[in-house]
Amino acid sequence: MSAPNPATPSSPVGEAFDQWAQVTRVARSTPLARAEPLLTLRGVHTHIGAYHILHGVDLVVPRGQLTMLLGRNGAGKTTTLRTIMGLWQASQGDIRFNGHDITKLHTPHIAGLNIAYVPENMGIFSDLTVKENMLLAARSAKRAQHMDEARLQWIFKLFPAVEKFWNHPAGKLSGGQKQMLAVSRAIVEPRDLLIIDEPSKGLAPVMINNMIDAFQQLKASGVSILLVEQNIHFAKRLGDTVAVMDDGRVVHAGSMAELAQDEALQRSLLGLAL
Ligand SMILES: Nc1ncnc2c1ncn2[C@@H]1O[C@H](COP(=O)(O)OP(=O)(O)O)[C@@H](O)[C@H]1O
Ligand SMILES: [Mg+2]
Repeated sequence: MSAPNPATPSSPVGEAFDQWAQVTRVARSTPLARAEPLLTLRGVHTHIGAYHILHGVDLVVPRGQLTMLLGRNGAGKTTTLRTIMGLWQASQGDIRFNGHDITKLHTPHIAGLNIAYVPENMGIFSDLTVKENMLLAARSAKRAQHMDEARLQWIFKLFPAVEKFWNHPAGKLSGGQKQMLAVSRAIVEPRDLLIIDEPSKGLAPVMINNMIDAFQQLKASGVSILLVEQNIHFAKRLGDTVAVMDDGRVVHAGSMAELAQDEALQRSLLGLAL
């Protein structure tokens, strides 16, 4: 069985790719990495043991934008992120990042290409202090005093709780504060792409608003972000572009503004009672 080809004109996702390609002045045939979208998945299939989870995912993450990956529970969003990061191996299809074919690379190599990944469980160390968690995330800093001071001050402005609890064990933070620490760790050094899995999950509304403010500032700094969400209201306020997954495939791709205006489409894609 062959994977769906996004170049096929009849493929809606292929058409969406072409629209993006026009917007970002990319030709499919261009050999210039610079001209490519930052991240592209074409026809990606992933098996987990005996289970066939991803069935030909086509996804484009343009540079300098926030791309929302939406979809019902179990649609395959986390599996897509884990496949990008090499935590699951794609059984078919290809994944390109910043001019590199990363399909078969191992996770440390992929992360070394300057991608930060914040998994659903946040990946922070509960027994260590906030400061130690940050230090471990800063690959080039051996001691806290060597963390980029200006960058640290910028992070403290985005997430004041990180400064407030600097010398406290991370395990003592609330869920929202932990999520903020997890994102802070991802941006402790400049990255080409941030990949974040459901940052609003389980957060109180006030924390969600803080998180939205922080992401708006992150976006303004020009960083490219791929963000998984279930919360459509969070998504509407932040997304530039959007891809919606269902049953292991991307079933819709386009601008977030367009989807935000179309409640019928949201209902049919996300099964939401709005
Ligand atoms: N480790 C695993 N073993 C078996 N099935 C899995 C595993 N992880 C995820 N799945 C299945 O893959 C599908 C997609 O899961 P996931 O990518 O976590 O979805 P989402 O993040 O969109 O909620 C689900 O049906 C889920 O049960
Ligand atoms: Mg998930």
